[in-house]
Amino acid sequence: MADNTLIPVAAEFAAEAHIDAAAYERLYQWSLDDPEGFWREQAKAIDWIRPPTRIKETSFAPDDVHIRWFADGTLNASVNCLDRHLATKADKPAILWEGDDPGESRTVTWRELHDKVNRLANALKALGVGKGDFVTVYLPVIPEVLVAMLACIRIGAVHSVVFSGFSSEALAGRVADCRAKVLITADEGHRGGRRLPLKRQADAALESIAHKVDHVVVVRRSGAPVPFTPGRDQWYEEITEAADPVCPPVEMSAEDPLFILYTSGSTGKPKGLVHTTGGYLVHVATSWKNIFDYKDGEVHWCTADVGWVTAHSYKIYGPVLNGATIVMFEGVPTWPDTSRWWSIIEKLKVNIFYTAPTAIRALMRDGEAPVRKHDLSSLRVLGSVGEPINPDAWLWYHRVIGGGRCPIVDNYWQTETGAVMLVPLPGATPLKPGAAAKPYFGIRPVLFDAAGQAVTGAGTGNLCFADSWPAQARTILRDHQRFVQTYFAPYPGHFFSGDGAKRDEDGYYWIAGRVDDVINVSGHRLGTVELESAIGSHPAVAESAVVGFPHEIKGQGVFAYVTLKAEFAETDLLRQEIVAWVRKSIGPIATPDVIQWAHALPKNRAGKILRRILTKIAANDFENFGDVTTLAEPEVVGDIVERRRQAIGRR
Ligand code: WTA
Repeated sequence: MADNTLIPVAAEFAAEAHIDAAAYERLYQWSLDDPEGFWREQAKAIDWIRPPTRIKETSFAPDDVHIRWFADGTLNASVNCLDRHLATKADKPAILWEGDDPGESRTVTWRELHDKVNRLANALKALGVGKGDFVTVYLPVIPEVLVAMLACIRIGAVHSVVFSGFSSEALAGRVADCRAKVLITADEGHRGGRRLPLKRQADAALESIAHKVDHVVVVRRSGAPVPFTPGRDQWYEEITEAADPVCPPVEMSAEDPLFILYTSGSTGKPKGLVHTTGGYLVHVATSWKNIFDYKDGEVHWCTADVGWVTAHSYKIYGPVLNGATIVMFEGVPTWPDTSRWWSIIEKLKVNIFYTAPTAIRALMRDGEAPVRKHDLSSLRVLGSVGEPINPDAWLWYHRVIGGGRCPIVDNYWQTETGAVMLVPLPGATPLKPGAAAKPYFGIRPVLFDAAGQAVTGAGTGNLCFADSWPAQARTILRDHQRFVQTYFAPYPGHFFSGDGAKRDEDGYYWIAGRVDDVINVSGHRLGTVELESAIGSHPAVAESAVVGFPHEIKGQGVFAYVTLKAEFAETDLLRQEIVAWVRKSIGPIATPDVIQWAHALPKNRAGKILRRILTKIAANDFENFGDVTTLAEPEVVGDIVERRRQAIGRR
């Protein structure tokens, strides 16, 4: 697929779209020339208690990084998500929920959602939660997860949603880091016909840390008997039943935290990125409507799990702020069979469908038959996010799922950016399969080449952004220094994304992937250091190095080079044991795909592992290792190459 395949915007689509090509040019230019005026106008999408007069106060200078948007405005986020829709939508569906078991579904109207949120907000208050307190949410994709998030923000508490597929160890670190006052979980989760022992994992997590939560709120999902600590543990159903159904919203300042979300970085400790209220809501509400060209009454389905930023911004906050009906699906695309997603699209008449390339690649393998069984004619816009989408998968998605008529909005952004950075707006931007296309309003991308020079025109480099945008994370919880060091020190005056990218002759951006020690497995970020510390804690392991390698379905897979302690033998059994060990300490998403034994790892004389070489070997590229003169023991590389060649049967 040549880079310049251009799929034009259909004239009928553009005619009805919120933003057509001319509007994109005009608004983008305005957003650069006059960010204050542009975002003041955008801020009208949100109901303020006191509208902001101060719009943008930001600095990316390394010695003074500060980011404030709409600083003197006050508002309540849950009022924007709920109360303001009641006059027109009270009895319309807010959530269409599909259970893991195809026989199970629920509809929650706006009125019901409002009632549930108010009750839980009051119940949390009764448990001692107030403004500025942290609440960790460890729930599967059930309506209660949305209730929990909105209940927190109604009373000014800060939610920290942790992916329910994470292990108890991963959960423990995240509860301790934010010193959560309350943990909200479920007895069990249902996934692909299996049960996840969430309460047991939560208990194990809480036992393992010094920090004590005051309470654990437990949603009854499966009804299975679970351990229950009287006094500390509370049944969600009981406390919400007993609570008053009216909870006055707390007036918050635009720069008060709304939520935190942990993401892996290039050290072993996950970063708790802090998102604040006003800027996040303005940017997310307006960008979601524009990138999916949402029309009132449409049904939106983002397949991401609630534990990721994709779900925060564009499964939950974006649509809910706009009063859209959202689909929540508890299960997996392959159970009971590989037509599950398509059957849900048909059943719920989904209009906007938003997923990740890894899922498309996996479902593509099954061919078109599972799709053809279903009527997908309700679809109007498709989205892709989380990793670069290869043109093959793009074209299949476009033709087979979108029937050739639905634009694909491949949107590039991050936990740190909070909202979209690069995207083709569906009524404005001709599509190039595989390109994240053009900057969103207010976004100024800059590519820096290897010499640290800004690239002009077409070229490749490290992707940075030259000025602030409202949904940007403000800091890392309790570690502002790390925030500055990670994102603002590498290219002074710029935010550094950690990704490499190309800009083509038409000004389209193509994301190449991470350039730091982070690998993107099925759209999920995993820090190699985090993986190495999990592997390294196995009693047989002396040392390890983890790199990503190209993987047909996952985009990148986890490749671990492991050196054992002298007294242990290199057996397949031990390999399996290490794999199980990593799954237990991080979660199944971190499962190593390949473990290769190594007598030693290639290091420079300062003892630093040369990952560049290991990455090439993992990709079966055995030449051009670049400068190897810094290697302390050059023969180590030959040995690793030899073993790799043997493993893949190539000489
Ligand atoms: C990658 C997810 C290519 C990228 C919203 C980024 C993408 C990381 C795209 C952030 C895309 C995300 N094309 N790569 N459309 N979207 N990425 O924080 O490497 O979970 O840095 O946010 O995913 O992952 P995160």
